[in-house]
Amino acid sequence: MMRILDTCKSVALIFILLMFLRISAQAQSQQSSNEIFAAMRMESIVDSLLAKMTLQEKLGQLNQFRWVYGENEEKIREQYRAFVKEGKIGSFLGIFGVEKTRELQRIAVEESRLAIPLLFAFDVIHGFRTIFPVPLGEAASWEPADAEKSARIAAIEAAASGLHWTYAPMLDIARDPRWGRVVEGAGEDPYLGSQMAAARVRGFQGADLTAENTLLACAKHFVAYGAAEGGRDYNTADISERTLREIFLPPFKAASDAGVATVMAAFNEIAGIPMHAHGQLINGVLRDEWNFPGLVVSDFTGILELQNHGVAGTRADAGILALKAGVDIDMVSSSYLEDLPEAVRQGKMPMSVVDAAVARVLRLKFQAGLFDDPFRYQNDEREQNLLLHKNHLQAAREIARKSIVLLKNENQTLPLAKSIKNLAVIGALANDNRAALGSWHGAGRDEDAVTVLRGIREVIPEENISFANGYENPESLDKSGFAEAVALAAKSEAVVLVLGEHGGMSGEASNRSSLELPGVQNQLAAAIHKTGKPVVVVLMNGRPLSINWLDQNMPAILETWFLGTEMGHAVADVLFGDYNPGGKLPITFPRSVGQIPLYYNHKNTGRPPLKEVLWTSKYIDIDWTPLYPFGFGLSYTTFAYSNIVLNPKNISPSGTLDVRVTVTNTGKVDGDEVVQLYIRDEVGSVTRPVKQLRNFKRLFFKAGETKTVSFELDASDFSFYNAAMKKVVEPGYFTVFVGGNSQDVIEARFEIRAH
Ligand code: BGC
Repeated sequence: MMRILDTCKSVALIFILLMFLRISAQAQSQQSSNEIFAAMRMESIVDSLLAKMTLQEKLGQLNQFRWVYGENEEKIREQYRAFVKEGKIGSFLGIFGVEKTRELQRIAVEESRLAIPLLFAFDVIHGFRTIFPVPLGEAASWEPADAEKSARIAAIEAAASGLHWTYAPMLDIARDPRWGRVVEGAGEDPYLGSQMAAARVRGFQGADLTAENTLLACAKHFVAYGAAEGGRDYNTADISERTLREIFLPPFKAASDAGVATVMAAFNEIAGIPMHAHGQLINGVLRDEWNFPGLVVSDFTGILELQNHGVAGTRADAGILALKAGVDIDMVSSSYLEDLPEAVRQGKMPMSVVDAAVARVLRLKFQAGLFDDPFRYQNDEREQNLLLHKNHLQAAREIARKSIVLLKNENQTLPLAKSIKNLAVIGALANDNRAALGSWHGAGRDEDAVTVLRGIREVIPEENISFANGYENPESLDKSGFAEAVALAAKSEAVVLVLGEHGGMSGEASNRSSLELPGVQNQLAAAIHKTGKPVVVVLMNGRPLSINWLDQNMPAILETWFLGTEMGHAVADVLFGDYNPGGKLPITFPRSVGQIPLYYNHKNTGRPPLKEVLWTSKYIDIDWTPLYPFGFGLSYTTFAYSNIVLNPKNISPSGTLDVRVTVTNTGKVDGDEVVQLYIRDEVGSVTRPVKQLRNFKRLFFKAGETKTVSFELDASDFSFYNAAMKKVVEPGYFTVFVGGNSQDVIEARFEIRAH
């Protein structure tokens, strides 16, 4: 009887499964026929518009202007409105708000001859009104799902404020912390960078670009912008094709595979060819090799700058070079609009190239749903209700605290007891809400941001806290605030000392030649240290800093970057143990600026550094190792790694490898650990990095809990470019490393065997 019942159940199950498969196959074919129908409709709109457009109207679609603000700008705004009417502007940068964008969109669709809607673009980098951690900080969470969530929320808010397009994510790998724009990316590693890239694209663009709560994303800056010599923004990059393909291109490939709608050209040149004229990389690699179907936009005046680079003698030549190289939209250079009509007439610019670029702009507008409803993003109610929504703030707080990295915690200085009766909070940054927002903070407002001081005040009674600026601002040389700060520290039970940079010290053009704490902050730290009180240093900064003295002398250090609107709440959660920090550095912290570039995935050299041997690759005046390695971060608990097992012991070049490791929370509190997996190809036909991150998982462990963590590796992890720049998997031995940072690892070997 039981058997009959079982058989009946199985038949029923199979039936249900078959029904399900049929329905999902039908749904799938329905979806793909919808897609085909939409694509056909899009192409027919594009073709019919192209057939009607004058050259001027075509070039207008390729022209982007920045909206102007200021009291005396009404004349320019009037001219822009007239241009929109004449079809001379296809998109605007830097304008948002339902009312303002609606007015311009109305002119475009009601008063211009062909009624082509405008696109509104803005730099929504780490949040729109609700500001999330700066991207470098968010990468320290090692949680792509969070990066996706914050991008999703940013898109919901920005789209509710009339925007269609964000100039994010910024995907530049950064190995030079002097470069101000390290703050905008995910750090030094192409694997982590690629995971974050794809997640952010998914977050901004959502599942359906035509939806009113999605943004077209823009992978920028294509490419190798982070390789600027000397860390000077906009400077020359001169790197090998190998470095380009292995380090700088992967995040862009990941974004392209994730369906990013647009890409922005970078300001730099690579080996003599400025990116705005780099047909080989834009049309060649991006479009032909990767099949990227989307649009490429120039960077701000990037086209005009081809003259300064010295590859274009005139503005017109600059425009011709850029459009031919595959740059579709001219951001504010006016060269396409003003110079290309003549170039087309003279036969210097084929109409087919113009048409291809215009078609890409029109497709983008179609994808954003603007041909169906140009005012889809202009909804007052959404703008009213969604900005700074309480769910967004909640997410901002959660993501912010996951981005905090505990760099040092001697004698369990942290967490602080909430019962503390006299806590001195020192440092002007503790009370600086603007700094909390970091650079590129969209439509974020200072007054929305919770400072570290306010966060602390919400946890312990006001009367138990004393506060002094100590320094006037991070860069100031004035020491007149020291006495008050030292006096408060001397009376306290413990000190929270907030040090670092203000938000404007990183970001575009904000490069530094030093990685020391600016101003008199080291001196202030020394004076506070002398009081003998336990000091917790809270760092706010947009780049790695060389904090040797703090590391040697202060018992506890928290890296908190610029965490955004909810900064103070997140920091207080960690300071008082309501949240156990689990972030890990996405970029190496050097001991000295003289070590730059310093990154974990370097080559071994013929003479790897050895302490005892002079004739090896190191310095005579400083250790060659970093202060804190890539992937580093502590916790209020401890984790032990053991028992790494690789299965099978050898695989074919196309085989997969199972890696298992035992991880135990050996401490007394629950906490997150980012389990990191690195590989090394021991002998290759070309030199391979000493380690390469190939996977990671951020996992929660209860106190005392043990987990077996498993990963699967395959050819995509083992392959590399050989001498002929062909991607291959070479037989031989590999080491697999697993650990809580790039240095402290356990390891095992396996072999790839050619059949
Ligand atoms: C930056 C871009 C940005 C653009 C528009 C440029 O200066 O390099 O990253 O998207 O300005 O604001």
